[in-house]
Amino acid sequence: MNSVFNYKVEWSGIQNRMARMFNPKSGRSVMLAVDHGYFQGAPSGLINLRETIEPLLPYCDAISPTIGGLKTSIDSRTRTPVIIRATGGSSMRRAEELDDEIVTVSVEEMIRVNAVGFTASCFVGLKNQSKTIGNLTSLTNIAHRYGLVAIGITAVGSDPALTKFVKGESESGAELTAEDKKDAIKYLKHAARVLSEDGADIVKTYYTEGFEEVVEACLAPIVIAGGTKKPTKEALDFTYRAIKAGAVGVDMGRNIFQNEHPVAMIQAIGSIVHDGKTAEEALSLYNDLKGKKKQG
Ligand code: R5P
Repeated sequence: MNSVFNYKVEWSGIQNRMARMFNPKSGRSVMLAVDHGYFQGAPSGLINLRETIEPLLPYCDAISPTIGGLKTSIDSRTRTPVIIRATGGSSMRRAEELDDEIVTVSVEEMIRVNAVGFTASCFVGLKNQSKTIGNLTSLTNIAHRYGLVAIGITAVGSDPALTKFVKGESESGAELTAEDKKDAIKYLKHAARVLSEDGADIVKTYYTEGFEEVVEACLAPIVIAGGTKKPTKEALDFTYRAIKAGAVGVDMGRNIFQNEHPVAMIQAIGSIVHDGKTAEEALSLYNDLKGKKKQG
């Protein structure tokens, strides 16, 4: 310290929290999403939240629960960084109103539970787009005062015109047409860019073919959600493709906790995200691990 110009007058809490969420070697993250109950009630795999979470915690870099899930089902001595689901207020009971979300957790509460950040769903292109983007921005403006990380989710509610982009199939289960695939890229590119322009530090979105374009268009790093449960090979495959296209990780739920062998699955996902394994290599790891005792 021989010059005043070498003296650091500021220390960045937000950088520190980001560093805690991402693996220092790979620079990527396996975030485990267990927040689905806030609009799905008690989905399969999450009925006993504590039992689901406990064996998976050692294999994730961060966990994304609701505030209720955190309080009831995660030990407060955990060293795993917590990302709080901060919007909600709608439920599948009125699926047509899924995009009508409000802020459910204050920044003060996030700080009280020592969260590293929060997620807010934004329904770009739906009736409540302005309200839900407003949820993200109003929370971000306060959260950034305290160095918390803001994660914006490109959510699609129940509108079949948009859900087909994230499901990768139409409502009837038919494959997407070439036109649909183009529209999916266009939509996700647009939605991800909007959230990053509005100040999300990380954007959580869905994989689609041509994902490079979504990553390129988004100003912030991207993590992917997994969406509805897919066969193991398929889930590993789209994870591999997303990482190859430039995603910095996953914030994944159903394709892990609804898998027949969740502990093997999260490690297989981790091998793609952190170790650069291919989908085939990850599947082989999954097959090795699933046979072992103590694997979920
Ligand atoms: C969904 O509403 C939540 O944001 C989930 O955390 C997100 O969809 C990730 O979970 P999954 O991989 O099951 O889609």
